[in-house]
Amino acid sequence: MECNVIETLISGEIDCGDLTFRLLQNKDKPVIMNINIGTTVKGAIDDLDLVVQTLKECGFQRNRFYIHCDGALFGVMLPFLNQVPQITFKKPIDSVSVSGHKFLGCPLPCGVQMVRMKHIGGALSKDVEYIASRDATITGSRNGHAPVFLWYNLSLKGYNWFEKEVRKCLHNANYLKGQLKKAGVSVMLNKLSNIVVFERPQDDGFIQHWQLSCQGNVAHVAVMPNVTIKMLDSFMDELVAKRFMWFKDGGNQPPCVASQIGKENCVCPLHKC
Ligand SMILES: Cc1ncc(COP(=O)(O)O)c(C=O)c1O
Repeated sequence: MECNVIETLISGEIDCGDLTFRLLQNKDKPVIMNINIGTTVKGAIDDLDLVVQTLKECGFQRNRFYIHCDGALFGVMLPFLNQVPQITFKKPIDSVSVSGHKFLGCPLPCGVQMVRMKHIGGALSKDVEYIASRDATITGSRNGHAPVFLWYNLSLKGYNWFEKEVRKCLHNANYLKGQLKKAGVSVMLNKLSNIVVFERPQDDGFIQHWQLSCQGNVAHVAVMPNVTIKMLDSFMDELVAKRFMWFKDGGNQPPCVASQIGKENCVCPLHKC
């Protein structure tokens, strides 16, 4: 299959202007789209309704597109928040996936994939003889521990715990963003996200010590339930002390990250006002 990478906005969401351009260039083919409910680096949530509207406006009828919603991390967190975009099979989507080993806390890699019955009807129509049940996996085999762990965690903690933890993660992410801003560090946090994106620290030892995930000139922190205010304060104290060393005398300057997180969030010497 031919793959087209669609441009993104500064937030990390699909740029529906570029999507329109690509769709019109490929009008003769059907479309398989991946939309993200929380991108890996910036935690951006694609605007599903706008993507659907764009597909329709470009002349793609329902039977000529397939939409997969990748909700690896934030797909599990979003439903616990108010006034958020609805990701639902009432809309013209075809599948949704979430990871089990991220927010759901399963101790082994696993995930849940929900697909419209019509897409797997054939695969599910027959029993796999040796397991005496229906199974749509390629091998007719899967990890039985994963659903047990998922069930255990969900029923042990319960709805209220998850709701409280999601709110705490967003609150603590906002706290970290505020502290970084106060310390004069370029930073961005999408409104519905627990992922704080900021200027990449200059020292690999620091990056390794705090296990920061980096891309180009930016790093990110995913504020998960285990991340406390105390931990964030100690991270900030160390970062501020290190930055003082990295940038003292003015010889070395904080990098410009405007192209990654926007001019309004960048406080490099050029964009600092
Ligand atoms: C948006 C997104 N999709 C998919 C994945 C991979 O998920 P998994 O570890 O369940 O394969 C990740 C991150 O790990 C992610 O951020």
